[in-house]
Amino acid sequence: MIELKQLADDLSICRVLNGMWQVSGTHGYIEPQKAIDEMIEYHNLGFTTWDLADIYGPAELFIGRFRKKLEKLKGKDELKNSQALTKFVPNPGPMTKSIVEHYVDKSLEKMNTNCLDLIQFHWWDYNNPSYIDALIHLSNIRDKGKIRHVGLTNFDTERLQIILDQGIEIISNQVQYSILDQRTEKLMAPFCRQNKIHLLSYGTLLGGFLSEKFLNSPEPLRGDLSTASLKKYYNMINAWGGWELFQELLQVLLQISKKHNCSIANVATSFILEKPAVAGVIIGARLGISEHRDDNSKAFAVQLDSEDKLMIKSVTEKSKDLFESIGDCGSEYR
Ligand SMILES: NC(=O)c1ccc[n+]([C@@H]2O[C@H](COP(=O)([O-])OP(=O)(O)OC[C@H]3O[C@@H](n4cnc5c(N)ncnc54)[C@H](OP(=O)(O)O)[C@@H]3O)[C@@H](O)[C@H]2O)c1
Repeated sequence: MIELKQLADDLSICRVLNGMWQVSGTHGYIEPQKAIDEMIEYHNLGFTTWDLADIYGPAELFIGRFRKKLEKLKGKDELKNSQALTKFVPNPGPMTKSIVEHYVDKSLEKMNTNCLDLIQFHWWDYNNPSYIDALIHLSNIRDKGKIRHVGLTNFDTERLQIILDQGIEIISNQVQYSILDQRTEKLMAPFCRQNKIHLLSYGTLLGGFLSEKFLNSPEPLRGDLSTASLKKYYNMINAWGGWELFQELLQVLLQISKKHNCSIANVATSFILEKPAVAGVIIGARLGISEHRDDNSKAFAVQLDSEDKLMIKSVTEKSKDLFESIGDCGSEYR
């Protein structure tokens, strides 16, 4: 049973989104034709929403090819049942109307569409205030019809407030959010609820660390970590409390998963899915290399109870405070 969520009146998404960073080239070789065939399989099972970016290698081109194939197989109307949420991640510099429009047009062309469902804007350097210019241009382009909605990724609460103060309309912010990394709860989640902004979470499975695969396994050497995602979240595990505490967490998650007759990944996904500010959890898909569709479809049915949450808390409260050491959402990028 797949769960849907209205991100806006005219944009409904699957609450487990397929993440496409995994096709960028740093998570193993992705064979394009196989990848497109797999995308059809995801779509057919109800996993109809894709999260991607202009900087994720061929991801936007894959969406374009996928849309052509979907139309051929099921007709033009079926395209309405697929959503592709891309990102605009420019190098910090002047953000003129023509520069911003140029990048939007490039995404439109690659994705074989005349309107982007959502463009999520990322900015590397808050000392450069041009991010406001970029967002004003994106809003104007939205009003002309080339973009349906404007969102953000990795913005902190302070800048989100500054953006809203400018009268810019934002529907979402994409941030790292997991059992391990709950920084979001300090400022971001309450702020978003108050301002009707949806959170989309990534890193919820820590690149696959939050699964049976790593249970009871010795601490990996950095060289053993085969994807950019595992490397990224191994650093996060170390910043959080280290491998031994992480194994303790996996043991507790195993117990909870057995009680609910589901996987550890399902527990980790459900834990975030049920947060009131969260519209969806993005789970990376190494298209054509591995897939966990059947397992991930079970996450929607898992309902963690207060006993489960207390068990999780008994481990997470032993960890370091990531908000104190890293800062608010997105600070790890700056
Ligand atoms: N905005 C940003 O800055 C940002 C940053 C990072 C990610 N993201 C987005 O979030 C997406 C997710 O990426 P992520 O790096 O955070 O990875 P993730 O979703 O935490 O982990 C994905 C990996 O988890 C494993 N997995 C998935 N389902 C599983 C299951 N049911 N059981 C066991 N293992 C399972 C798979 O590993 P195997 O393939 O090895 O089986 C998969 O490759 C990205 O594609 C991207 O769209 C955004």
